[in-house]
Amino acid sequence: MLRGNIELWLAFITCAVIAAGYGLIVVWTQEVPAASELFGHTLGIVGFILMLLTETLYSIRKRSRIAMGRMSTWLKFHIYMGLVGPFMVLLHSSWKFNGLAGATTLLTAIIVFSGFIGRYIFTRIPRTLDGMEIEGTLSQEALKRARQMMSLWHAVHIPIGVALFISAFVHMAGALYYATFLQ
Ligand code: HEM
Ligand code: HEM
Repeated sequence: MLRGNIELWLAFITCAVIAAGYGLIVVWTQEVPAASELFGHTLGIVGFILMLLTETLYSIRKRSRIAMGRMSTWLKFHIYMGLVGPFMVLLHSSWKFNGLAGATTLLTAIIVFSGFIGRYIFTRIPRTLDGMEIEGTLSQEALKRARQMMSLWHAVHIPIGVALFISAFVHMAGALYYATFLQ
């Protein structure tokens, strides 16, 4: 069970360690770290970089002709960063969800939720470690249905990701301008 879900366990442990650090800072300072101050800002920047790597690395590897590492490992890495990054960004929010920043957080939550659905459908189709479908293990009917669901899922998941990054870039530009440079 641990081996099959290793990326989920590692993400859970990493988030627990980050949450413990966050908790210590809250106890020490007696306040929630503000999004525009050192700790909250760092969480936002590092979390966002992880999300950007989630968005790009797996897709690049999937389309690359050079086989650098197994696809299954890249997907695990994708999922690990796709959980830890959003968790850091959530702590960055300082639990305020107004306006565009709130919408960006909502889109982040939707993409993570959608990721779990994608993972569920993806793992229904038996695959090699390089992500190739293994023929003959599912009936033609079941395979066709799983493929249709997977392509429908891609058609929803990818545009949400694009909307998320557009709104995150606008948020960053606005937040840096008003909350950092104008201070
Ligand atoms: C997907 C990534 C991100 C999400 C979902 C997000 C979300 C949020 C949220 C919910 C807030 C609180 C807004 C409020 O006070 O109502 C916030 C504040 C802020 N964020 Fe982000 N953030 C992200 C990435 C970043 C990055 C990468 C930076 C810096 C480059 C950044 C800089 C700031 C700043 C400076 C504030 C404080 C704004 C203020 O005090 O008015 N954020 N963010
Ligand atoms: C910041 C969060 C995330 C972003 C931005 C993101 C983005 C993407 C993108 C752009 C793709 C399409 C890759 C391609 O076909 O080129 C994808 C695929 C996928 N993602 Fe995510 N994702 C995130 C989080 C997650 C999470 C948390 C999970 C699982 C729990 C997940 C599971 C998957 C799966 C199973 C695929 C399909 C792989 C395939 O068809 O080859 N993602 N993701």
